[in-house]
Amino acid sequence: MDYKAMINNEFIVTKNKQNILSPIDNKVIGTVSALLESDINNAYDVAKTSQKEWEKTQLLKRIEVIEKFKNEIIKNKDKIADIMMAEIAKPLKESLAEVQRTVEIIDFTIEEVRRFYPTAMDAKGWGIENKIGVFERVPVGVVCAISPFNYPFNLALAKIIPALLTGNTVVFKPATQGSLTGSFIGKLWVDAKLPKGIFNVVTGKGSDIGDIIVSNKNINMISFTGSVKVGQRIKSIAKTSNIVLELGGKDAALVLDDKNLDLYVSEIISGSFGFAGQRCTAIKRVLTTNEVADKLVPLLEAKIKAFKHGNPKTNPDIVPVVNEPTRDYIMGLIDNAKTKGASIKTGGTYEGNLIQATLIDNVTKDMRIAWEEPFGPVLPIIRCKDLDEIITIQNESNFGLQSSVFTTDINLAFSVAKQIEVGTVNINSRPQRGPDNFPFLGIKDSGEGVQGIKESLNSMTRYKGIVINWK
Ligand code: NAP
Ligand code: G3P
Repeated sequence: MDYKAMINNEFIVTKNKQNILSPIDNKVIGTVSALLESDINNAYDVAKTSQKEWEKTQLLKRIEVIEKFKNEIIKNKDKIADIMMAEIAKPLKESLAEVQRTVEIIDFTIEEVRRFYPTAMDAKGWGIENKIGVFERVPVGVVCAISPFNYPFNLALAKIIPALLTGNTVVFKPATQGSLTGSFIGKLWVDAKLPKGIFNVVTGKGSDIGDIIVSNKNINMISFTGSVKVGQRIKSIAKTSNIVLELGGKDAALVLDDKNLDLYVSEIISGSFGFAGQRCTAIKRVLTTNEVADKLVPLLEAKIKAFKHGNPKTNPDIVPVVNEPTRDYIMGLIDNAKTKGASIKTGGTYEGNLIQATLIDNVTKDMRIAWEEPFGPVLPIIRCKDLDEIITIQNESNFGLQSSVFTTDINLAFSVAKQIEVGTVNINSRPQRGPDNFPFLGIKDSGEGVQGIKESLNSMTRYKGIVINWK
């Protein structure tokens, strides 16, 4: 596969290319353009120049463009899934599901934008009878969209589509491991003969060109999903303060009783090990009492031991993690826990980038795995003395994305949910972003601002007020 960045509907051939390695065997599976500063500046100039015309384009015409794009996606869904599977080792079924979910997001966003009405207010509450204000939402201008490797299609378009529908133009930077998919999105745009300049794809390594991408003076809004480290860097150097950051997580499963263990186990297993734990919303720690852990751990262990590991083509339970540095980081967390006395109930080994699904019991607060985000197939169990300690450890995390509370006592569930410092608490289910019309947000180091369909339409627009006065 040899795909190119796309600016103003032209593919950009660069002297140097960026190799993309397969997570399965670290062999080169393709190349993308490695852009220079001048290319990136050009992308922003083009986006800025095209924006006013696009903003003036009737909403129904904008919808027509996005519908055509969606049809191109649907026509190419198998190809998109194949590329994704090759470059991030997402199981084929899940890659296809990611494309389908994205099509559904596009449909829902189109419906939502049709009803994106202005707000009208009078001033009677201020004793003023002859004044009415109409506040409509207008595009911010140029949106810089940066996506992570783990949802290279979905998290890209969840930013691009609301931006375009509301009359913004877009410069999109995919994760390097994800930029075959990202560049293919650019190709679909050109193949569908959609308008020039309003959507541009820039590729190259974030460590080389990231600062240039986020600090361009033409950017009016940045929508970023990725790690805490990069998110904080972007915040410190961006010239716009209009930034939505969706960052890492250390979502906990708080298991408060043993009354419905079948449900708890099934949610914890899918929550922890889906896409080999490479989801920001993955369950990355279980907090429970000794008494419950004694029953829960053997059930989890049996399920994990039955997992099939392997090539994403065969839709196994566990696939290789994205690359060698990630594998080494995860193994470092496991080894640290082992050295400090945790019990590895199953897993703890690897071959290539394929890490055996790992369950670690008796994890204590002095171990790195109690606090750090592995982004891999590892589940630590932290045994607590009582509910107070469960809540304290939950809230001691620097992350605050989501968490789950498992109990049959709805009163207890609500009371605990109120005390948990995260964006969203899920009662009796795994943490998750969807359904995609729900607001999706993290607090603390997990992010700033909110994603979601309506929320993205809001964050990519601003109020424009017109106040009418009469005698
Ligand atoms: P990452 O390393 O932070 O990369 C994210 C994106 O930022 C990539 O496109 C990357 O490009 C780019 N980037 C790197 N350095 C940059 C810089 N200096 N300036 C601008 N952009 C830069 O994250 P990842 O490894 O792809 O994804 C895993 C992380 O994302 C995890 O922490 C996970 O929890 C988090 N995540 C959060 C959410 C959420 O919604 N909260 C969703 C998914 C993932 P390169 O690939 O070229 O470096
Ligand atoms: O890691 C991506 C994040 O947005 C979570 O999505 O649907 O896996 O909960 P989901």
